[in-house]
Amino acid sequence: MFKIPFLDLPPLRGAAGAVRLPGSKSISNRVLLLAALSEGKTVVRDLLASDDTAVMLDALRALGCGVWNEGDAVVIDGLGGRLRAREAKLFLGNAGTAMRPLTAALALLAATQGASFEVSGVARMHERPIGDLVDALRGLGCEIDDLGNAGYPPLRLRGPSTLALDAPVRVRGDVSSQFLTALLLALPLVAEHDIRVEVIGELISKPYIEITLALLERFGIAVKREGWEAFIIPAASRYRSPGEVFVEGDASSASYFVGLGAIAATDAPIRIEGVGSESLQGDVRFIEAAAAMGAQIKTGPNWLEVRRGAWPLKGITLDCNHIPDAAMTLTVMALYADGATTLTNIASWRVKETDRIAAMAAELRKLGATVDEGPDWIRVEPLKDWKAAAIHTYDDHRVAMCFSLAAFNGLVTDAAVPVRILEPHCVAKTFPDYFETLFGVVIANAADVPVITIDGPTASGKGTLADEVGKALGFGVLDSGALYRVAGLAARRAGLNLDDGDAVAAIVPTLQLRFGDGHVFLGQEDVSARLRAEATGLLASQVAVHPQVRKALHQLQLDFRRLPGLVADGRDMGTAIFPDASLKVFLIASAATRAERRHKQLISKGISANIDSLREDLEARDERDKNRSASPLVPAQDAQLLDNSALTIEASVDQVLDWWQQRRPF
Ligand code: C5P
Repeated sequence: MFKIPFLDLPPLRGAAGAVRLPGSKSISNRVLLLAALSEGKTVVRDLLASDDTAVMLDALRALGCGVWNEGDAVVIDGLGGRLRAREAKLFLGNAGTAMRPLTAALALLAATQGASFEVSGVARMHERPIGDLVDALRGLGCEIDDLGNAGYPPLRLRGPSTLALDAPVRVRGDVSSQFLTALLLALPLVAEHDIRVEVIGELISKPYIEITLALLERFGIAVKREGWEAFIIPAASRYRSPGEVFVEGDASSASYFVGLGAIAATDAPIRIEGVGSESLQGDVRFIEAAAAMGAQIKTGPNWLEVRRGAWPLKGITLDCNHIPDAAMTLTVMALYADGATTLTNIASWRVKETDRIAAMAAELRKLGATVDEGPDWIRVEPLKDWKAAAIHTYDDHRVAMCFSLAAFNGLVTDAAVPVRILEPHCVAKTFPDYFETLFGVVIANAADVPVITIDGPTASGKGTLADEVGKALGFGVLDSGALYRVAGLAARRAGLNLDDGDAVAAIVPTLQLRFGDGHVFLGQEDVSARLRAEATGLLASQVAVHPQVRKALHQLQLDFRRLPGLVADGRDMGTAIFPDASLKVFLIASAATRAERRHKQLISKGISANIDSLREDLEARDERDKNRSASPLVPAQDAQLLDNSALTIEASVDQVLDWWQQRRPF
């Protein structure tokens, strides 16, 4: 996705279909580190491709690991416990799953082999605590310098220094379970004797420790556990690559689609592929919470199927310590419930990507909800009177994904409102194509999908303006002229008489048209360049006069009205095709300006052109387009006229976006 400043979700009405989840973030980054510490190669399949894994891969490269792609797999050639680089500065973004385990592993490697490493991240990472882990490592004899505030990254890890491994390693377990995970992943590096790790305080997020133990086992390290209080890494543990690892789908990411099914899958289920009953990840237990709220869920080893059961959903009270990440989704589901929902034992939310209790409370309130919060709990009341809101996402992928479920408010109130997600690209942390995946399985009324029409005469700059506005809003773009151009080209190639409207219209349904990445394909042939030729434009305006041809192309154009919205350019977008468009723009640049622009365009492509004859051509086409009886080129009554003769593209785009903003309820 482009970095658009906001994404508007129109009211959504239903859901059905199948999604394949991206790989689990927790498993991906653990596997990468374990593969890096092992000797030899590990082929990692279905690895999550996201910001958090990208920073881990960059770090491993900087440390001298071999990292390359083989087909869809990522291959790691591990260090086998021996440092190849003794100095590195590692930037770890906002990835806790990279920061904590790398800190532990590099501190131990620096101590035993001598090295100096710096680990840092984005500003928020420097506010996320790591002091308990640093204390535990210092207790072992590691040399760690605070480079910013004590107890927070950035840090310098240096050595050599002498480690004292006879006494138990003690670490707090009640702030983040990642401190314990980090030690468990790293201590086998130095396990000449049994190493005992003791947890201080009640261990939170235990299922994440189970993932850590299961993956250590796959890499040859059998940690012994005494309840959740102590863990023993056996003497002479050695990381052994299993050769190949498959990463499960991300169970936390599944929660949005489980929620989606519970809210909106009334006819057919939402099928989620990549996690299921045999999943390692604790967050699959989110399905129990969703079921308690009313969802009907079927499970297979690596799939889930979810439909709506109880409706409205049922309010619940739940200790969410075991599903800290997925539980955020419950707070938005709670808006559709019959009573209050209270989530308890979620203090860890306050030290995640953002203070998630504060963030969810503030944004739910913007929708109109009544929300109470405490140090480690949140309570959300059902919502009847929904407000259109721009949701701040705090650079937190989960906030953005959760709030997409607020777009179903039309299922509980007649006055359906859209939802604006600010900075939607933050989903790239774990689910880069989340919104595209969502749009693939949700149902909207066509009338709810916003359309901006940009009409105007030849060479008025419609196409460029439409593309730029589409990019800024994340909307699809319809270049309707291309359809007339294709029809004209195909008719000419078929040897048809272009004045015979019936004959030209008859070939339209036979055209095997495909649009992708700004290219147009006719059958196997990429005809994009042919379509842009001046000669094809003339063919287009000849076939475009026939009502039969216009009718034949009508549905094809309506089909472009897809989520999250459309910018359509042409001659009759605002008058005939999308008369209900929310914003209609009509360009009125003078013929002289347009001829000049077209001239420059052609010259820059190395095509010689004569400005006077260009102008004559333009005027002839304008005349034909204006005077034909079928959909003549005229502004819609409610169109905004834009004379862009003296405007830069940027200024025109800004003007259109300005008009658009004025029409939005946010
Ligand atoms: O916009 P473009 O120059 O590609 O359009 C080529 C021709 O197709 C126009 O001159 C016009 O005759 C026809 N057209 C149309 N209605 C549209 C788009 C294009 O009649 N919506």
